Amino acid sequence: MAQLVLVPSTLELSAIGKQCFKPQTQCCMVNSTTLNLRTSKFPLKRVTFQRQKPLRSSFTVCATTLPIGQDAPPQPTNGFDQSSSRDSSKRKRVMVIGGDGYCGWATALHLSKKNYEVAIVDNLIRRTFDLQLGLDSLTPIASIHDRVSRWKSLTGKTIELYIGDICDFEFFSAAFKSFEPDTVVHFGEQRSAPYSMMDRPRALFTQSNNVIGTLNVLFAIKEFSEDCHLVKLGTMGEYGTPNIDIEEGYITITHNGRTDTLPYPKQANSFYHLSKVHDSNNIHFSCKTWGIRATDLNQGVVYGVRTDETDMHEELCNRLDYDGVFGTALNRFCVQAAVGHPLTVYGKGGQTRGYLDIRDTVQCMELAIANPAKPGEFRVFNQFTEQFSVRDLAALVSKAGEKLGIDVKTITVPNPRIEKEEHYYNAKRTKLIELGLQPHYLSDSLIDSLLNFAVAYKDRIDMKQIMPSVSWKKFGAAQVRSVAA
Ligand SMILES: NC(=O)c1ccc[n+]([C@@H]2O[C@H](COP(=O)([O-])OP(=O)(O)OC[C@H]3O[C@@H](n4cnc5c(N)ncnc54)[C@H](O)[C@@H]3O)[C@@H](O)[C@H]2O)c1
Repeated sequence: MAQLVLVPSTLELSAIGKQCFKPQTQCCMVNSTTLNLRTSKFPLKRVTFQRQKPLRSSFTVCATTLPIGQDAPPQPTNGFDQSSSRDSSKRKRVMVIGGDGYCGWATALHLSKKNYEVAIVDNLIRRTFDLQLGLDSLTPIASIHDRVSRWKSLTGKTIELYIGDICDFEFFSAAFKSFEPDTVVHFGEQRSAPYSMMDRPRALFTQSNNVIGTLNVLFAIKEFSEDCHLVKLGTMGEYGTPNIDIEEGYITITHNGRTDTLPYPKQANSFYHLSKVHDSNNIHFSCKTWGIRATDLNQGVVYGVRTDETDMHEELCNRLDYDGVFGTALNRFCVQAAVGHPLTVYGKGGQTRGYLDIRDTVQCMELAIANPAKPGEFRVFNQFTEQFSVRDLAALVSKAGEKLGIDVKTITVPNPRIEKEEHYYNAKRTKLIELGLQPHYLSDSLIDSLLNFAVAYKDRIDMKQIMPSVSWKKFGAAQVRSVAA
């Protein structure tokens, strides 16, 4: 199986730890200078590059097609169905953009196990953010090449790899035409609200990366395969915290005696969340105008690290972020508890949001793919299983800590965000349940397992990353320094 491999030069060319990030510079295309992308573990071809005229897209090194996993012949010993690998033409083809990230990696493996033909598209920028800011996943994560190679050796299943930036239409259209997806699952965005609030370059980067990337996906579908179903990750954060129930995407309003069903109002509270609102409008518009089919999954905050597939081998392990920029509430609290740091509740702690287990993220993806939207339809699903306030989560982690003999304290820290700290919150979530979602509710045992995970990797925890470091009020270089310091 061949794959087009494009590598973001930010990894090769930017100085590690540099604080200033300029994602949009110029593009390099395949030609004569050699660059060995792999370690000796991967006996793959050397690839070549040469500068060409600057494109609007990111600074990218493009490589030639490479076979993967040749060093690891299939050993299907885990009951994986091999029959369909011989008849791949009948299998649904799913392109997972952002497949090296937290939700994307777990999803790519799950879909591959469920016999979908899977390709990952990723420019590895998430790994670059860590290098630039001096952050790291709690869990050690293997390179994407080692990950897919290990998957192949364990299951016999190939995951194709397209390394490149979806904001670069030349790259993305080549990948799209090469793989010919039936479904594109789009996780490939800058997804941290604090990151988008650090300084102007990162606010701009978040909006251009997310909005242009999504537009490119829409244009590729329109140009090359109008029937392809787009499954796009949005966030519950787009709705804000209105003082009325949150519906799933649309609300029927009667105004001055007339009634209409309209997109539910959005009240985003960071440049990241705003990029999602733009995405959602662009997708809605494209569905109406071009007849594209799309599902927008407004996801709640994801917790947990283990899925059946990532548990199969340490090289398949998912990332777990606990720092103040990329870490999400419950994951952060478990890590804080594990190192004896008080749980950091922002302000009054009444901030309530929807949450879900990463095992349900992958289940929701499978359901959305198996039950596609109709041509021209723009569906919106609210993807979460339970609501918690930050205070509730702190109490749950403290209780779980007690059982494990860990003395967990909670402190109130000044809220770095601008948000309501006590508010009404009642969001609907019926559509995925109707499609068959069987939620994994947050249980004591899940928190125990997350806590145990955090304890197991305690030595990797960087105490400097525990406190929040990005404020919504200060904007600029000082903030970046305080994260990277
Ligand atoms: N993690 C959560 O709790 C959560 C909650 C709500 C919504 N979401 C949404 O789910 C999606 C995935 O989130 P995640 O937590 O897995 O994020 P992540 O940062 O772990 O993964 C995103 C992946 O996309 C890649 N990427 C980013 N820009 C790209 C580009 N231009 N071209 C190619 N690849 C690119 C990154 O390298 C990374 O591997 C995001 O859209 C996010 O907004 C996540």
